[in-house]
Amino acid sequence: MKTYVNRDQLNRLTPQIIQRGNYASPEISVYLTDGNKWAVKDCSGMQPFLKQIIGRRYQNREISIYKRLEGVEGVPSFKGIIDQDAFAVEFIEGETLSRKLAPELLNKALDNLEKIINAIHERGVVHLDLKQKRNVLVKASGEVAVIDFQSSLFFSQSPLGRLIISLLKGRDKAGLVKFKAKYAPSILTPEEKRKYKRDLILSRFWPFSHLGRFVRQIFKN
Ligand SMILES: Nc1ncnc2c1ncn2[C@@H]1O[C@H](COP(=O)(O)OP(=O)(O)O)[C@@H](O)[C@H]1O
Ligand SMILES: [Mg+2]
Repeated sequence: MKTYVNRDQLNRLTPQIIQRGNYASPEISVYLTDGNKWAVKDCSGMQPFLKQIIGRRYQNREISIYKRLEGVEGVPSFKGIIDQDAFAVEFIEGETLSRKLAPELLNKALDNLEKIINAIHERGVVHLDLKQKRNVLVKASGEVAVIDFQSSLFFSQSPLGRLIISLLKGRDKAGLVKFKAKYAPSILTPEEKRKYKRDLILSRFWPFSHLGRFVRQIFKN
């Protein structure tokens, strides 16, 4: 297990909190260590029961996915486990997708995102939360990083694993198509346009998407 900094050492550094945690969600902070910036996800402040059944479980899943994706361009590198409540990955200087970004930058970013999604799938991982633009960070160069693998799943290269991946890939691609439709509609292919329209109709009638939004809202507040 790769650990560069333990909790005591971490406590001596001054973090910049980028997302405050609460009883049901982890805190995310940036730490500067030896000139490198780390993003640390820390569920130690969660309500103990929720920490046990959600916080640590999700974080362990995220850690295992980061390890499987080591070396994939566009995925922050894994920096280490702090303790059972926290882990660190490379901090990415970037911003979320938005119409404020220059059109050329958006086109490059979306093109890059498609490559990253394919590379992630090649490793047997499906992200499954790519409809949230906060999980995609755009660097000044137009390159992209995908973060937040807590809902992701890994499947082996067995025939069954490959079958499941091929069924779930569409969900990640639907996130990409949604971003293209929103931020760069001119680059949508006719097939993507059809998929986007179908997806819009399906999500209107899919009760879990409303439920998911409702649950996220409760936990974020
Ligand atoms: N490695 C990172 N580099 C830069 N910012 C990050 C990184 N990890 C998280 N963040 C910031 O923290 C936010 C929340 O992190 P995320 O892992 O998506 O947690 P959550 O499960 O709360 O969505 C992100 O939207 C992003 O702004
Ligand atoms: Mg997120």
